Amino acid sequence: MDVQKIRNDFPILQRKVNGKPLVYFDNAATSQTPIQVIDTIVEYYNNYNANIHRGVHTLSQEATELYELARQKIQKHFNAAQAHEIIFTSGTTHSINIVSNGYAQILSKGDEVIVSALEHHSNIVPWQMMCEKTGAVLKVIPMNEDGVLIMEEYDQLLSNTTKLVFVNHVSNALGTVNPIEEIITKAHAVGAEVLIDGAQASPHIKADVQSLDVDYYVTSAHKLCGPTGVGMLYGKQSALNRLPPYQGGGEMIAEVTFEKTTYADLPHKFEAGTPNIAGGIGFGAALDYLNTIGMEEIAAYEEQLLKYATTALNNIPGVKIYGVAPQKTAVISFNVTGIHPYDIGSILDQLGIAVRTGHHCAQPIMDFYQIPGTVRASFSFYNTFQEIDSMVEALKKAIQMLQ
Ligand code: ALA
Repeated sequence: MDVQKIRNDFPILQRKVNGKPLVYFDNAATSQTPIQVIDTIVEYYNNYNANIHRGVHTLSQEATELYELARQKIQKHFNAAQAHEIIFTSGTTHSINIVSNGYAQILSKGDEVIVSALEHHSNIVPWQMMCEKTGAVLKVIPMNEDGVLIMEEYDQLLSNTTKLVFVNHVSNALGTVNPIEEIITKAHAVGAEVLIDGAQASPHIKADVQSLDVDYYVTSAHKLCGPTGVGMLYGKQSALNRLPPYQGGGEMIAEVTFEKTTYADLPHKFEAGTPNIAGGIGFGAALDYLNTIGMEEIAAYEEQLLKYATTALNNIPGVKIYGVAPQKTAVISFNVTGIHPYDIGSILDQLGIAVRTGHHCAQPIMDFYQIPGTVRASFSFYNTFQEIDSMVEALKKAIQMLQ
């Protein structure tokens, strides 16, 4: 992989922050956008902008074709059996809410659902709301000190009252890769469906939804070099057909009278209103971009970055890394003894280095470790070993100033 060549595709990596070259290590929050994706979006607005699925005119038909082509690219990337099993959404949170809202009409009192201790709030709160409405009970797979799920406890939680299991593929706060194959197989053995939040996995791991046999897989384009405000809900046709629509409006109907409305077939049943057309097309372009580099090459390079940074940080006295699972993506959450993560993040920013600080929308993980938050450095394939050196030097300076 020619990282210097790849970096030229990302205009933002040329800029300075606070007079210093930008070192962007907040990729788990959002990835940067290559010129190929930016150009695709500009090209859409320059030449094709029109509403889709509605017009007989040429622009509308061309825009529809581009949008549906993007759906097919997503289908192919995640190996969905059919294009209509890919629903365009505004992102992972929206995707999860479509399913949790549907489940609010399917479940009843006494049913059980299982979440993991490693979740982002977006894969906790919608389900708590669903449980409040239905009387279903939320059970939690606990984690251990390394940031790994305790699978023996999962076995104990599963029963024939379990209706749904929802876990992330990769933890946004710690980078742990969860054993989703085992989670899915065991859930199916008791008749439960499974939703996998793939937001943090999809920049690094190409999930094959058919071989996983997963019922729902969700992600956001902006995590994988695409634009913000667009994502996907993959669902098996049978699972999506069972769910009621989430929003009513145009596009999602078959026929409307004041007496009764019937709903459109998949995928339109879940796509009320004018969608983020440019975003959807940009999502497709982002997958093209990643596939041109190769997801396996990306993962192998990021693994080297992770190892290099882990060793370097462990060599700094006072640094403690949270989340040391054997299977991790390139995310390092850490603290320095006696220093608040926010203070470290602020000084790193002064030195041009972008990291995220805080609870990372995963408060239960912070509660487990009894900390207010961490500093999180998350790497992408366009980052370099030299940038990690810069962060390490900057961190040493910050520690000197703050201790
Ligand atoms: N979920 C994103 C993160 O982990 C925003 O930073």
